[in-house]
Amino acid sequence: KKAENQILVIFGASGDLTHRKLLPALFELYSRDLLPEKFQVIGAARTPQSTDEFRNKQQAFISEVLKISDYSQLSKLADFLQLVNYIDFDTDDAKQYQILKEKIIFLEKEYNIPDNIIYYLATPPAMYDIIPINLQKCGMNVSLSGGSRKIIIEKPFGYDLESAQRLNHLLESTFHESEIFRIDHYLGKETVQNILVLRFSNGIFEPLWNRNYIDSIEIISTETLGVENRGKYYDIVGALRDMVQNHLMQLIAFIAMEPPATFDPESIRDEIAKVFKALHVYSPEERVHNIIRGQYMEGNIDEKKVIGYRREKNVAPNSNTETYIAMKLMIDNWRWGGIPFFIYTGKRLKEKRTEIIIHFKSTPQQFFIGQCSGSSCNQLIIKVQPDESISLKFGLKIPGAGFEVKQVSMDFKYNTLSEEKLPDAYERLLLDAMLGDSTLFSRNDALEASWKFIDPIEEEWKKHPSKDLCYYKAGSTGPTIISNFREQTFRYIRNECELPIQNE
Ligand code: BG6
Repeated sequence: KKAENQILVIFGASGDLTHRKLLPALFELYSRDLLPEKFQVIGAARTPQSTDEFRNKQQAFISEVLKISDYSQLSKLADFLQLVNYIDFDTDDAKQYQILKEKIIFLEKEYNIPDNIIYYLATPPAMYDIIPINLQKCGMNVSLSGGSRKIIIEKPFGYDLESAQRLNHLLESTFHESEIFRIDHYLGKETVQNILVLRFSNGIFEPLWNRNYIDSIEIISTETLGVENRGKYYDIVGALRDMVQNHLMQLIAFIAMEPPATFDPESIRDEIAKVFKALHVYSPEERVHNIIRGQYMEGNIDEKKVIGYRREKNVAPNSNTETYIAMKLMIDNWRWGGIPFFIYTGKRLKEKRTEIIIHFKSTPQQFFIGQCSGSSCNQLIIKVQPDESISLKFGLKIPGAGFEVKQVSMDFKYNTLSEEKLPDAYERLLLDAMLGDSTLFSRNDALEASWKFIDPIEEEWKKHPSKDLCYYKAGSTGPTIISNFREQTFRYIRNECELPIQNE
Protein backbone atom coordinates (compact mmCIF):
# COMPACT_ATOMS: atom_id res chain seq x y z
CA LYS A 1 0.00 0.00 0.00
CA LYS A 2 1.31 3.43 -0.93
CA ALA A 3 1.01 6.50 1.27
CA GLU A 4 -0.91 9.54 0.07
CA ASN A 5 1.04 12.09 -1.94
CA GLN A 6 2.84 14.38 0.46
CA ILE A 7 5.79 16.58 1.39
CA LEU A 8 8.18 15.56 4.15
CA VAL A 9 9.90 18.40 6.00
CA ILE A 10 12.98 17.37 8.00
CA PHE A 11 14.04 19.88 10.66
CA GLY A 12 17.66 19.40 11.66
CA ALA A 13 18.56 18.27 8.14
CA SER A 14 22.25 19.05 8.45
CA GLY A 15 22.58 16.74 11.47
CA ASP A 16 23.75 13.21 11.99
CA LEU A 17 20.38 11.48 12.07
CA THR A 18 19.39 12.82 8.67
CA HIS A 19 22.40 11.48 6.84
CA ARG A 20 22.93 8.31 8.89
CA LYS A 21 19.33 7.13 9.06
CA LEU A 22 16.58 9.21 7.48
CA LEU A 23 17.79 9.84 3.94
CA PRO A 24 19.28 6.31 3.57
CA ALA A 25 15.92 4.89 4.72
CA LEU A 26 14.03 7.10 2.26
CA PHE A 27 16.37 6.02 -0.52
CA GLU A 28 15.72 2.35 0.30
CA LEU A 29 11.97 3.02 0.21
CA TYR A 30 12.43 4.79 -3.13
CA SER A 31 14.41 1.81 -4.50
CA ARG A 32 11.62 -0.55 -3.49
CA ASP A 33 8.99 1.75 -5.01
CA LEU A 34 7.31 2.36 -1.65
CA LEU A 35 7.35 6.17 -1.61
CA PRO A 36 4.16 8.05 -2.56
CA GLU A 37 3.63 8.66 -6.30
CA LYS A 38 4.16 12.38 -5.77
CA PHE A 39 6.64 13.13 -3.06
CA GLN A 40 9.18 15.80 -2.13
CA VAL A 41 11.51 16.23 0.82
CA ILE A 42 12.49 19.59 2.27
CA GLY A 43 15.55 19.56 4.50
CA ALA A 44 15.55 22.56 6.83
CA ALA A 45 18.41 23.68 9.08
CA ARG A 46 20.47 26.72 9.96
CA THR A 47 23.59 25.82 7.97
CA PRO A 48 23.63 28.05 4.88
CA GLN A 49 23.98 25.92 1.74
CA SER A 50 22.21 25.48 -1.58
CA THR A 51 20.05 22.51 -2.51
CA ASP A 52 22.81 21.33 -4.86
CA GLU A 53 25.43 21.47 -2.13
CA PHE A 54 23.11 19.59 0.22
CA ARG A 55 22.38 16.93 -2.42
CA ASN A 56 26.09 16.43 -3.12
CA LYS A 57 26.87 15.96 0.56
CA GLN A 58 23.98 13.54 0.99
CA GLN A 59 25.07 11.59 -2.09
CA ALA A 60 28.44 10.96 -0.42
CA PHE A 61 26.90 10.15 2.98
CA ILE A 62 24.21 7.80 1.67
CA SER A 63 26.57 5.86 -0.58
CA GLU A 64 28.92 5.43 2.37
CA VAL A 65 26.19 4.36 4.80
CA LEU A 66 24.62 1.92 2.35
CA LYS A 67 27.95 0.91 0.78
CA ILE A 68 26.77 1.76 -2.71
CA SER A 69 29.44 1.62 -5.39
CA ASP A 70 27.91 0.17 -8.56
CA TYR A 71 26.85 2.49 -11.35
CA SER A 72 23.15 1.60 -11.54
CA GLN A 73 22.65 2.13 -7.80
CA LEU A 74 24.54 5.41 -7.92
CA SER A 75 22.42 6.66 -10.74
CA LYS A 76 19.28 5.62 -8.86
CA LEU A 77 20.58 7.57 -5.89
CA ALA A 78 21.07 10.63 -8.09
CA ASP A 79 17.44 10.28 -9.28
CA PHE A 80 16.23 9.99 -5.68
CA LEU A 81 18.13 13.09 -4.64
CA GLN A 82 16.14 15.07 -7.20
CA LEU A 83 13.26 14.74 -4.71
CA VAL A 84 15.33 16.37 -1.97
CA ASN A 85 15.39 20.15 -1.44
CA TYR A 86 17.14 22.27 1.15
CA ILE A 87 16.34 25.60 2.78
CA ASP A 88 18.19 27.40 5.55
CA PHE A 89 16.49 29.54 8.14
CA ASP A 90 16.52 30.15 11.86
CA THR A 91 13.98 27.67 13.21
CA ASP A 92 13.90 29.59 16.50
CA ASP A 93 12.36 32.58 14.78
CA ALA A 94 8.64 32.27 13.94
CA LYS A 95 8.87 35.04 11.34
CA GLN A 96 11.29 33.03 9.23
CA TYR A 97 8.83 30.15 8.78
CA GLN A 98 7.49 32.13 5.85
CA ILE A 99 10.51 30.81 3.91
CA LEU A 100 9.36 27.26 4.57
CA LYS A 101 5.75 28.08 3.79
CA GLU A 102 6.69 29.55 0.41
CA LYS A 103 8.84 26.55 -0.44
CA ILE A 104 5.99 24.19 0.39
CA ILE A 105 3.52 26.17 -1.73
CA PHE A 106 6.02 26.26 -4.59
CA LEU A 107 6.62 22.47 -4.51
CA GLU A 108 2.90 21.71 -4.18
CA LYS A 109 2.21 23.73 -7.33
CA GLU A 110 5.26 22.57 -9.27
CA TYR A 111 4.62 18.84 -8.65
CA ASN A 112 0.86 18.94 -8.20
CA ILE A 113 1.02 17.60 -4.64
CA PRO A 114 -2.04 18.07 -2.39
CA ASP A 115 -1.54 19.90 0.89
CA ASN A 116 -0.38 16.89 2.95
CA ILE A 117 2.65 17.66 5.10
CA ILE A 118 4.64 15.50 7.49
CA TYR A 119 7.17 17.23 9.76
CA TYR A 120 10.13 15.30 11.18
CA LEU A 121 11.92 16.80 14.19
CA ALA A 122 15.48 15.47 13.86
CA THR A 123 16.77 18.34 15.98
CA PRO A 124 18.22 18.60 19.48
CA PRO A 125 15.37 18.09 22.01
CA ALA A 126 15.44 21.77 23.04
CA MET A 127 13.78 22.52 19.67
CA TYR A 128 10.81 20.23 20.37
CA ASP A 129 9.28 23.03 22.44
CA ILE A 130 9.85 25.65 19.80
CA ILE A 131 9.14 24.20 16.35
CA PRO A 132 5.52 23.06 16.93
CA ILE A 133 4.64 26.46 18.41
CA ASN A 134 6.27 28.29 15.53
CA LEU A 135 4.43 26.08 13.04
CA GLN A 136 1.20 26.97 14.83
CA LYS A 137 1.99 30.70 14.85
CA CYS A 138 2.34 30.55 11.07
CA GLY A 139 -0.78 28.44 10.62
CA MET A 140 1.29 25.53 9.33
CA ASN A 141 0.00 22.94 11.81
CA VAL A 142 -3.36 22.73 10.04
CA SER A 143 -4.34 22.60 6.39
CA LEU A 144 -6.96 25.06 5.18
CA SER A 145 -7.69 22.90 2.17
CA GLY A 146 -8.49 19.68 4.04
CA GLY A 147 -5.02 18.17 3.67
CA SER A 148 -3.28 16.19 6.41
CA ARG A 149 -0.64 17.20 8.97
CA LYS A 150 1.63 14.86 10.92
CA ILE A 151 4.60 15.37 13.19
CA ILE A 152 7.32 12.83 14.04
CA ILE A 153 9.39 13.32 17.19
CA GLU A 154 12.65 11.59 18.05
CA LYS A 155 13.62 10.48 21.52
CA PRO A 156 14.39 11.63 24.18
CA PHE A 157 10.72 12.35 24.78
CA GLY A 158 11.11 14.26 28.00
CA TYR A 159 13.64 13.87 30.76
CA ASP A 160 11.21 12.85 33.46
CA LEU A 161 7.44 12.65 33.96
CA GLU A 162 7.02 16.39 34.33
CA SER A 163 8.92 17.30 31.17
CA ALA A 164 7.21 14.50 29.20
CA GLN A 165 3.81 15.80 30.33
CA ARG A 166 4.80 19.35 29.42
CA LEU A 167 5.90 18.22 25.97
CA ASN A 168 2.74 16.16 25.50
CA HIS A 169 0.57 19.18 26.41
CA LEU A 170 2.48 21.40 24.07
CA LEU A 171 2.23 18.96 21.17
CA GLU A 172 -1.41 18.26 21.82
CA SER A 173 -2.14 21.98 21.78
CA THR A 174 -0.70 22.19 18.27
CA PHE A 175 -1.45 18.78 16.72
CA HIS A 176 -4.08 16.10 17.35
CA GLU A 177 -2.80 12.95 19.16
CA SER A 178 -3.48 10.90 16.01
CA GLU A 179 -1.12 13.23 14.11
CA ILE A 180 1.76 12.81 16.59
CA PHE A 181 4.29 10.01 15.98
CA ARG A 182 6.80 9.46 18.79
CA ILE A 183 9.57 7.30 17.38
CA ASP A 184 11.20 4.44 19.23
CA HIS A 185 13.45 2.81 16.68
CA TYR A 186 13.35 -0.56 18.48
CA LEU A 187 9.73 -0.88 17.37
CA GLY A 188 10.91 -0.55 13.78
CA LYS A 189 13.05 -3.68 14.07
CA GLU A 190 11.64 -6.71 12.23
CA THR A 191 12.50 -9.06 15.07
CA VAL A 192 10.64 -6.89 17.58
CA GLN A 193 7.49 -6.75 15.44
CA ASN A 194 7.75 -10.49 15.05
CA ILE A 195 7.20 -10.93 18.81
CA LEU A 196 3.58 -9.98 18.19
CA VAL A 197 3.28 -12.46 15.32
CA LEU A 198 5.05 -15.22 17.24
CA ARG A 199 2.69 -14.76 20.16
CA PHE A 200 -0.58 -14.02 18.42
CA SER A 201 -0.47 -16.12 15.25
CA ASN A 202 0.49 -19.38 16.96
CA GLY A 203 -1.69 -21.45 19.25
CA ILE A 204 1.23 -23.28 20.84
CA PHE A 205 2.91 -20.52 22.82
CA GLU A 206 0.06 -18.48 24.24
CA PRO A 207 -1.30 -21.15 26.65
CA LEU A 208 2.18 -21.32 28.21
CA TRP A 209 2.75 -17.56 28.20
CA ASN A 210 2.04 -16.79 31.85
CA ARG A 211 3.12 -17.19 35.45
CA ASN A 212 2.08 -20.85 35.55
CA TYR A 213 4.63 -22.01 32.98
CA ILE A 214 7.22 -19.26 32.75
CA ASP A 215 9.91 -19.02 35.39
CA SER A 216 11.53 -15.73 34.40
CA ILE A 217 12.32 -13.53 31.44
CA GLU A 218 15.66 -11.96 30.57
CA ILE A 219 16.12 -9.01 28.25
CA ILE A 220 19.71 -8.34 27.32
CA SER A 221 20.87 -5.41 25.24
CA THR A 222 24.61 -4.88 25.33
CA GLU A 223 26.84 -2.73 23.17
CA THR A 224 30.55 -2.47 22.51
CA LEU A 225 30.22 1.21 21.61
CA GLY A 226 30.95 3.87 24.19
CA VAL A 227 29.28 7.27 24.21
CA GLU A 228 30.99 8.32 20.96
CA ASN A 229 30.47 12.05 20.38
CA ARG A 230 27.36 12.17 22.53
CA GLY A 231 29.00 12.77 25.92
CA LYS A 232 27.10 16.01 26.49
CA TYR A 233 23.72 14.33 26.00
CA TYR A 234 24.60 11.01 27.62
CA ASP A 235 26.14 12.42 30.78
CA ILE A 236 22.81 14.04 31.66
CA VAL A 237 20.70 11.10 30.60
CA GLY A 238 22.49 7.82 31.52
CA ALA A 239 21.60 4.26 30.58
CA LEU A 240 18.30 4.18 32.46
CA ARG A 241 16.81 7.01 30.41
CA ASP A 242 18.74 6.27 27.21
CA MET A 243 17.86 2.58 26.86
CA VAL A 244 15.50 1.33 29.58
CA GLN A 245 12.75 3.97 29.66
CA ASN A 246 12.12 3.56 25.95
CA HIS A 247 13.62 0.65 23.99
CA LEU A 248 13.70 -2.02 26.68
CA MET A 249 10.33 -1.07 28.11
CA GLN A 250 8.87 -1.51 24.61
CA LEU A 251 10.37 -5.00 24.44
CA ILE A 252 8.85 -5.80 27.84
CA ALA A 253 5.49 -4.51 26.64
CA PHE A 254 5.47 -6.72 23.53
CA ILE A 255 6.42 -9.76 25.61
CA ALA A 256 4.04 -9.04 28.49
CA MET A 257 0.95 -7.48 26.88
CA GLU A 258 -2.43 -9.18 26.67
CA PRO A 259 -3.75 -10.10 23.22
CA PRO A 260 -5.34 -6.91 21.83
CA ALA A 261 -9.11 -6.89 21.17
CA THR A 262 -8.39 -6.33 17.47
CA PHE A 263 -5.14 -5.78 15.63
CA ASP A 264 -5.54 -2.04 15.21
CA PRO A 265 -3.17 0.65 16.52
CA GLU A 266 -5.33 1.83 19.42
CA SER A 267 -6.14 -1.67 20.72
CA ILE A 268 -2.45 -2.60 20.64
CA ARG A 269 -1.40 0.64 22.28
CA ASP A 270 -4.08 0.18 24.96
CA GLU A 271 -2.45 -3.12 25.94
CA ILE A 272 1.06 -1.61 25.95
CA ALA A 273 -0.10 1.17 28.27
CA LYS A 274 -1.67 -1.39 30.63
CA VAL A 275 1.68 -3.19 31.00
CA PHE A 276 3.46 0.02 31.97
CA LYS A 277 0.72 0.92 34.42
CA ALA A 278 1.15 -2.49 36.11
CA LEU A 279 4.93 -2.15 36.62
CA HIS A 280 5.80 -2.53 40.27
CA VAL A 281 7.28 0.73 41.56
CA TYR A 282 9.96 -0.18 44.08
CA SER A 283 10.22 1.30 47.53
CA PRO A 284 13.75 2.61 48.32
CA GLU A 285 14.47 -0.58 50.34
CA GLU A 286 13.38 -2.87 47.51
CA ARG A 287 15.34 -0.86 44.98
CA VAL A 288 18.69 -1.56 46.63
CA HIS A 289 18.27 -5.26 45.96
CA ASN A 290 16.76 -5.05 42.53
CA ILE A 291 18.71 -2.44 40.59
CA ILE A 292 22.43 -2.34 39.90
CA ARG A 293 24.08 0.51 38.06
CA GLY A 294 27.58 0.57 36.68
CA GLN A 295 30.04 2.75 34.83
CA TYR A 296 32.80 1.64 32.47
CA MET A 297 36.46 2.15 33.16
CA GLU A 298 39.23 1.87 30.64
CA GLY A 299 39.73 -1.50 29.04
CA ASN A 300 39.97 -3.26 25.69
CA ILE A 301 37.39 -3.63 22.97
CA ASP A 302 38.41 -5.89 20.08
CA GLU A 303 41.94 -5.83 21.46
CA LYS A 304 42.05 -2.04 21.21
CA LYS A 305 42.54 0.04 24.31
CA VAL A 306 39.62 2.35 25.06
CA ILE A 307 39.32 5.11 27.64
CA GLY A 308 37.06 5.04 30.69
CA TYR A 309 33.73 6.86 30.72
CA ARG A 310 34.96 9.74 32.87
CA ARG A 311 37.61 10.57 30.31
CA GLU A 312 35.18 10.72 27.38
CA LYS A 313 34.70 14.05 25.62
CA ASN A 314 32.09 16.30 27.29
CA VAL A 315 31.73 13.97 30.28
CA ALA A 316 32.36 15.35 33.78
CA PRO A 317 35.65 13.91 35.17
CA ASN A 318 33.84 12.91 38.37
CA SER A 319 30.61 11.87 36.66
CA ASN A 320 28.35 9.36 38.41
CA THR A 321 26.24 8.72 35.34
CA GLU A 322 25.47 5.04 34.83
CA THR A 323 26.49 3.36 31.59
CA TYR A 324 25.19 -0.01 32.75
CA ILE A 325 21.95 -1.20 34.33
CA ALA A 326 20.87 -4.58 35.61
CA MET A 327 17.45 -4.67 37.13
CA LYS A 328 14.67 -6.97 38.11
CA LEU A 329 11.20 -5.72 37.22
CA MET A 330 7.92 -7.14 38.37
CA ILE A 331 4.58 -6.70 36.63
CA ASP A 332 1.80 -6.69 39.15
CA ASN A 333 -1.02 -8.25 37.15
CA TRP A 334 -2.77 -11.62 36.85
CA ARG A 335 -0.62 -12.94 34.03
CA TRP A 336 2.79 -12.05 35.49
CA GLY A 337 2.41 -11.69 39.27
CA GLY A 338 5.60 -13.01 40.93
CA ILE A 339 7.55 -13.61 37.68
CA PRO A 340 10.78 -11.61 37.41
CA PHE A 341 11.81 -9.75 34.26
CA PHE A 342 15.58 -9.23 34.31
CA ILE A 343 17.06 -6.45 32.21
CA TYR A 344 20.74 -6.01 31.42
CA THR A 345 22.00 -3.17 29.28
CA GLY A 346 25.24 -1.30 29.00
CA LYS A 347 27.87 0.36 26.88
CA ARG A 348 31.44 -0.79 26.26
CA LEU A 349 30.64 -4.40 27.02
CA LYS A 350 32.10 -7.51 25.47
CA GLU A 351 29.63 -7.86 22.61
CA LYS A 352 26.81 -6.20 20.71
CA ARG A 353 23.77 -8.31 21.41
CA THR A 354 20.06 -7.80 21.99
CA GLU A 355 18.06 -10.84 22.95
CA ILE A 356 15.07 -11.95 24.95
CA ILE A 357 15.18 -15.27 26.80
CA ILE A 358 11.98 -16.82 28.08
CA HIS A 359 12.84 -19.42 30.74
CA PHE A 360 10.10 -21.99 31.21
CA LYS A 361 9.52 -23.72 34.52
CA SER A 362 11.14 -27.10 35.00
CA THR A 363 9.37 -30.44 35.25
CA PRO A 364 8.11 -31.22 38.77
CA GLN A 365 10.54 -34.14 39.05
CA GLN A 366 13.96 -34.61 37.50
CA PHE A 367 14.14 -38.16 36.09
CA PHE A 368 17.18 -37.79 33.88
CA ILE A 369 20.74 -36.76 34.48
CA GLY A 370 22.57 -34.55 32.07
CA GLN A 371 22.92 -31.02 30.85
CA CYS A 372 19.28 -30.02 30.74
CA SER A 373 17.67 -29.35 34.05
CA GLY A 374 15.76 -26.69 35.89
CA SER A 375 14.47 -23.52 34.26
CA SER A 376 17.49 -23.26 31.97
CA CYS A 377 16.44 -26.43 30.10
CA ASN A 378 13.44 -25.03 28.23
CA GLN A 379 14.08 -21.63 26.78
CA LEU A 380 12.68 -19.62 23.93
CA ILE A 381 15.36 -17.22 22.71
CA ILE A 382 14.42 -14.28 20.52
CA LYS A 383 17.59 -12.82 19.04
CA VAL A 384 16.76 -9.25 18.11
CA GLN A 385 20.24 -8.46 16.74
CA PRO A 386 22.68 -9.42 15.29
CA ASP A 387 22.09 -12.83 13.58
CA GLU A 388 18.33 -12.38 13.99
CA SER A 389 16.78 -15.70 14.95
CA ILE A 390 14.36 -17.55 17.24
CA SER A 391 15.46 -20.73 19.02
CA LEU A 392 13.59 -23.19 21.19
CA LYS A 393 15.75 -25.19 23.60
CA PHE A 394 14.77 -28.50 25.13
CA GLY A 395 16.30 -31.74 26.40
CA LEU A 396 16.78 -34.93 24.38
CA LYS A 397 18.42 -38.26 25.05
CA ILE A 398 22.00 -38.73 23.95
CA PRO A 399 22.11 -41.86 21.75
CA GLY A 400 23.50 -44.92 23.51
CA ALA A 401 23.02 -46.72 26.77
CA GLY A 402 21.01 -45.27 29.64
CA PHE A 403 19.07 -41.99 29.65
CA GLU A 404 21.49 -39.15 29.53
CA VAL A 405 20.00 -35.84 28.47
CA LYS A 406 21.47 -33.02 26.42
CA GLN A 407 20.00 -29.64 25.64
CA VAL A 408 19.28 -29.25 21.91
CA SER A 409 18.04 -26.29 19.93
CA MET A 410 15.47 -25.82 17.18
CA ASP A 411 16.53 -22.73 15.31
CA PHE A 412 14.80 -20.39 12.91
CA LYS A 413 16.97 -17.88 11.12
CA TYR A 414 15.51 -14.85 9.41
CA ASN A 415 17.48 -15.37 6.24
CA THR A 416 15.42 -18.51 5.56
CA LEU A 417 12.30 -16.32 5.33
CA SER A 418 13.78 -13.80 2.98
CA GLU A 419 17.07 -13.57 1.12
CA GLU A 420 16.91 -9.79 1.29
CA LYS A 421 18.66 -7.99 4.11
CA LEU A 422 16.25 -6.94 6.84
CA PRO A 423 14.98 -3.39 6.33
CA ASP A 424 16.37 -0.77 8.67
CA ALA A 425 14.04 0.25 11.51
CA TYR A 426 13.69 3.77 10.09
CA GLU A 427 12.38 2.48 6.76
CA ARG A 428 9.45 0.79 8.42
CA LEU A 429 8.75 3.67 10.80
CA LEU A 430 8.96 6.40 8.17
CA LEU A 431 6.66 4.45 5.89
CA ASP A 432 4.16 3.78 8.69
CA ALA A 433 4.12 7.44 9.69
CA MET A 434 3.54 8.46 6.07
CA LEU A 435 0.69 5.95 5.93
CA GLY A 436 -0.69 7.34 9.22
CA ASP A 437 -0.35 3.98 11.01
CA SER A 438 0.61 4.64 14.63
CA THR A 439 0.83 1.01 15.85
CA LEU A 440 4.61 1.16 16.25
CA PHE A 441 4.76 4.60 17.89
CA SER A 442 4.50 5.46 21.59
CA ARG A 443 1.25 6.91 22.87
CA ASN A 444 1.15 9.72 25.45
CA ASP A 445 -0.42 7.65 28.28
CA ALA A 446 2.07 4.75 27.88
CA LEU A 447 4.95 7.16 27.82
CA GLU A 448 3.84 8.94 30.96
CA ALA A 449 3.30 5.58 32.73
CA SER A 450 6.87 4.56 31.85
CA TRP A 451 8.22 7.77 33.39
CA LYS A 452 6.22 7.12 36.56
CA PHE A 453 8.25 3.94 36.92
CA ILE A 454 11.62 5.56 36.08
CA ASP A 455 11.30 8.83 38.04
CA PRO A 456 11.58 7.44 41.61
CA ILE A 457 14.78 5.59 40.67
CA GLU A 458 16.34 8.72 39.20
CA GLU A 459 15.22 10.80 42.18
CA GLU A 460 16.89 8.43 44.59
CA TRP A 461 20.14 8.48 42.58
CA LYS A 462 20.00 12.24 42.55
CA LYS A 463 19.93 12.20 46.34
CA HIS A 464 22.82 9.72 46.56
CA PRO A 465 24.80 10.29 43.36
CA SER A 466 27.60 7.80 43.86
CA LYS A 467 26.05 5.33 46.27
CA ASP A 468 26.27 1.76 44.98
CA LEU A 469 27.62 2.71 41.58
CA CYS A 470 29.64 -0.31 40.41
CA TYR A 471 32.55 -0.02 38.01
CA TYR A 472 33.44 -2.43 35.23
CA LYS A 473 36.21 -2.78 32.72
CA ALA A 474 35.43 -1.83 29.14
CA GLY A 475 35.19 -5.05 27.13
CA SER A 476 34.01 -7.11 30.11
CA THR A 477 30.57 -8.59 30.75
CA GLY A 478 29.72 -5.84 33.24
CA PRO A 479 30.15 -5.36 36.98
CA THR A 480 31.25 -8.53 38.75
CA ILE A 481 28.29 -8.33 41.11
CA ILE A 482 26.06 -9.33 38.20
CA SER A 483 26.98 -13.00 38.47
CA ASN A 484 24.93 -13.09 41.68
CA PHE A 485 22.02 -11.20 40.23
CA ARG A 486 20.40 -13.84 38.04
CA GLU A 487 20.58 -16.40 40.83
CA GLN A 488 18.18 -14.13 42.66
CA THR A 489 20.57 -13.34 45.47
CA PHE A 490 20.13 -9.62 45.24
CA ARG A 491 22.19 -8.64 48.24
CA TYR A 492 24.49 -5.81 47.47
CA ILE A 493 28.05 -6.87 48.03
CA ARG A 494 29.44 -3.41 48.46
CA ASN A 495 33.12 -4.08 47.94
CA GLU A 496 32.36 -5.60 44.52
CA CYS A 497 31.26 -2.14 43.47
CA GLU A 498 34.20 -0.15 44.62
CA LEU A 499 36.23 1.79 42.13
CA PRO A 500 39.48 -0.19 41.98
CA ILE A 501 41.62 2.60 40.59
CA GLN A 502 40.50 6.03 41.71
CA ASN A 503 40.03 8.41 38.78
CA GLU A 504 41.57 5.77 36.55
C1 BG6 B 1 19.82 4.78 20.94
C2 BG6 B 1 20.64 5.18 22.14
O1 BG6 B 1 18.49 5.15 21.11
O2 BG6 B 1 19.91 3.37 20.78
C3 BG6 B 1 22.08 4.78 21.93
O3 BG6 B 1 20.55 6.59 22.32
C4 BG6 B 1 22.18 3.30 21.64
O4 BG6 B 1 22.87 5.12 23.06
C5 BG6 B 1 21.22 2.90 20.53
O5 BG6 B 1 23.51 3.05 21.23
C6 BG6 B 1 21.15 1.41 20.37
O6 BG6 B 1 20.42 1.09 19.22
P1 BG6 B 1 20.71 -0.23 18.42
O7 BG6 B 1 19.66 -0.24 17.35
O8 BG6 B 1 22.11 -0.12 17.87
O9 BG6 B 1 20.59 -1.36 19.38
